[in-house]
Amino acid sequence: MSEIEIRALKKHYKGGVEALKTITLNIERGSFFALLGPNGAGKSTLVGIMTTLIRKDAGDIIIGGLDPEKETAAIQRYIGAASQENELDPAETPFNLLRFQGRLFGLHYAESRERAEELIIQFGLENEKHKKTASLSGGNKRRLHCALALVHRPRVLFLDEPTVGMDPLARETFWHVITSLNHKDGVTIMLTTQYLEEADRHASEMALIIDGTIHFQGTVQAFKQNVNAGDDASLEDNYLKYTKSLNNTKYINS
Ligand SMILES: Nc1ncnc2c1ncn2[C@@H]1O[C@H](COP(=O)(O)OP(=O)(O)OP(=O)(O)O)[C@@H](O)[C@H]1O
Ligand SMILES: [Mg+2]
Repeated sequence: MSEIEIRALKKHYKGGVEALKTITLNIERGSFFALLGPNGAGKSTLVGIMTTLIRKDAGDIIIGGLDPEKETAAIQRYIGAASQENELDPAETPFNLLRFQGRLFGLHYAESRERAEELIIQFGLENEKHKKTASLSGGNKRRLHCALALVHRPRVLFLDEPTVGMDPLARETFWHVITSLNHKDGVTIMLTTQYLEEADRHASEMALIIDGTIHFQGTVQAFKQNVNAGDDASLEDNYLKYTKSLNNTKYINS
C-alpha cells in the first residue's frame, strides 16, 4: 500500500532554477526510504513540498490519503519533519520546547510533560534538558530537532540530513530510536543524507535524484546490482561509480 504518491511534480524557483522536473515517485507504507543525490539535486525542495513548506508548480502529491495543499492541518498531524535548517527559540529550553510542541498538537498538560520527558531520555538530552537552546552544541540541536518532530507520534517521518554534526554515540542512539519506530511501530521513514553508509545500513528502498530528475527508484539492492561496482561494494561505491559515469559522459559530450 502506498504511503506517499507523487505524480509529475514540478517546481522552479524565481531566477529560473528548475529544481524539480516532472518527478514521479511511489513510497510504500512502513518502508525506510532514502532520497539520495548530490548537493543542489532537489532533495530538500521535494521534502519541503511534501511537508507543506514549499508550494509546488504542478503535479499531484498524496500522503496517507491526504493532499498537503488542501488538507494542510491534517497532514501536519500525520507527518513529522526535522528539516535541514530549522530555527530553535534561543531563549527556551529543550524541555519547554518539547512541552509546547505537545500542547500545540493537543496533548493535555500532564501528557505533554510525560512525552517531553520520554523524548529527552530517548535522545540522550538529559544534561541539556533545562539549558537554553542557544547554548546547545550543534549535534545536540540536531537531536532536539528530531525529538520535536516526534512529539505527536507521526506516521511518516521526514529526516533531512538528520545526523550532520552528531558524534558517533549520538548517531548510534539516534538510529536505534528511528529504526525501532520503523520496525516496531511501522512509521514510514523518508531520509535524505550524504552519509551513504547510513542509507546502506538502514534503508530498504531508495531514489536517486540528480538535477531535479529521478535517475533510479527501487531497492538499495537493485541499485547495487544495476550499477554493479563489485560483489561487496557499498552503496557509496555504487553511487560514486554511477555519478562519475554521468560526469564523464557530460565531459565527453561537451
Ligand atoms: N529558495 C530558493 N530560491 C532559489 N533557488 C533555490 C531555493 N532553494 C533551492 N534552490 C535551488 O534549487 C536547487 C535544488 O536545491 P535543494 O536545496 O532542493 O537541493 P538539495 O538536493 O537539498 O541539496 P543539498 O544536498 O545541498 O541539501 C538548487 O539549484 C538550489 O540552488
Ligand atoms: Mg538539502
